[in-house]
Amino acid sequence: MKRAGIIGIGKLGLCFALNLERAGYEVYGVDVSEEYVNQLNTKAFSSPEPEVSELLAHSKSFFAGTDISTLLTKGVEDIFIMVATPSLADGTYDHSQIERITEELILKGKLEKTVHLYVGCTTMPGYCNLLAAKLQQYNYTVSYNPEFIAQGSIIHDQQYPDQVLIGEGDEEAGNRLEEIYRNLVKNNPMFCRMDRLSAEITKLATNCFLTTKISFANSIGDLAVKSGADHEKILKAIGADSRIGSKYLNYGFGFGGPCFPRDNRALGAFAKKQDYPLLISEATDDVNKMHLEFQLQHYLEKYAANEPIKFDYVSYKKGSVIIEESQQLALAVRLAKAGRKVIVNDRAEVKKEVEKKYPGLFEFSKL
Ligand SMILES: NC(=O)c1ccc[n+]([C@@H]2O[C@H](COP(=O)([O-])OP(=O)(O)OC[C@H]3O[C@@H](n4cnc5c(N)ncnc54)[C@H](O)[C@@H]3O)[C@@H](O)[C@H]2O)c1
Repeated sequence: MKRAGIIGIGKLGLCFALNLERAGYEVYGVDVSEEYVNQLNTKAFSSPEPEVSELLAHSKSFFAGTDISTLLTKGVEDIFIMVATPSLADGTYDHSQIERITEELILKGKLEKTVHLYVGCTTMPGYCNLLAAKLQQYNYTVSYNPEFIAQGSIIHDQQYPDQVLIGEGDEEAGNRLEEIYRNLVKNNPMFCRMDRLSAEITKLATNCFLTTKISFANSIGDLAVKSGADHEKILKAIGADSRIGSKYLNYGFGFGGPCFPRDNRALGAFAKKQDYPLLISEATDDVNKMHLEFQLQHYLEKYAANEPIKFDYVSYKKGSVIIEESQQLALAVRLAKAGRKVIVNDRAEVKKEVEKKYPGLFEFSKL
C-alpha cells in the first residue's frame, strides 16, 4: 500500500488526508494536540465541512499522531505540510509554523533515503526556495503544491480541481506528486508544472485575478446604481462575452473570507519587495473598501431611519460559518453603529460568534 504523510491536519490537511485514504493510500497525519488526534483516531471528531465526518467514519488506513518521527520510522517518502501561515501586518505571511517543523526534521539528521516534502500552505513567493536550500543537505526535496479550494466544499474541490499546481523541487518530486493527484482526483485536471517561485506567484495571482474581477463587477454596479442604469443587465451582458465569463461577475458584497483578501495583499507586498508596485492588487483592495462605503450610503438612503434592515447572512459567503473579513458583516456593523436597527439571520453558530464579537449590537431573527 502506498504511504503518505500530512503534517498539519487542520481544515485543509484533514480533507486532503481523507481524500488520499479514500484513494487507497495509507495516510499518517501529524498535528499538535493529543486531544484532537485522539478524536480523529476514535472517529469521534465531527466537522462542519461536508463529507469529512463520513469519510473519517469509513476510513481504515488513516492514522493520526503527534510525533513527526512516526513518518520517518514508517518509511513515508511523500510528506505534505499543511500548517497555517497567518498574515502579518505588512501583508506578508508568517512561516513560523513551517519553520518549527523544519527544525524538527533537521534535528533528526541526514536521511538515508530521500524524502519529498510538498508545501500545501500558502507561502510568500521565494520562501520554498529558501526552505529547499536549508533541507537539501538532509536529503529532502521541497516542492510547492497549493490547493484551490473553498471552505464548504473542500473534499469536492480536491477531487475535482481545474488545475493541479506543482512547483517542483526536481523532476522526480514533480512526477511523484502528479501520480498522487492522478490517483486522488475524479476528473481530468490540467497539471501545471513549473519551478517553485513561479508556482508561489501563480497561487497568489489566481486569487488576485478573482478579487479584481469581483471589484470590477462591484465598481461597474456602483456606477450603474449612481447613474440610474441596470447593473444586473450590464453585468450579464459583459459576462456573456466568452473572453470574460460570468463567474465572479455579480454585483453584491465585496470580497472577504480567509483567502482572497490576504492572498491579494500578499502578492502586493511581494511586488513591493521586488520594487515593482503591483497597482492592480492595491486598486482591488481600495475598490473593496470604497464599495463598502458606497453600500453604506445606499442602505442609509434606501431604508427609512426607523425601518429595520435585515441581513439573511453575515458570513463571508452564503452557507459558510466564517465571518473573517466578511464585507456583509462589516456593512451590518456600520449600519448598526449609525443607529439603524439591524436584524441578523444566519446559522446558529454564526449568530453566536457575531454576538460574541459585537455584544448587543444586533437583533437576531432566531437563535
Ligand atoms: N482552509 C482553506 O480554505 C485554505 C484554502 C487555501 C489555502 N489554505 C492554506 O493552507 C494552509 C493551512 O490552512 P488551514 O485552513 O488548514 O489551517 P488550520 O489552522 O485549519 O490547520 C493547520 C493545522 O496545523 C497544525 N499545526 C500547527 N503547527 C504544527 C506542527 N508543528 N506540527 C503539526 N501540526 C501543526 C494546527 O494544529 C492545525 O490543526 C494555510 O497556509 C492556508 O493559507 C487554506
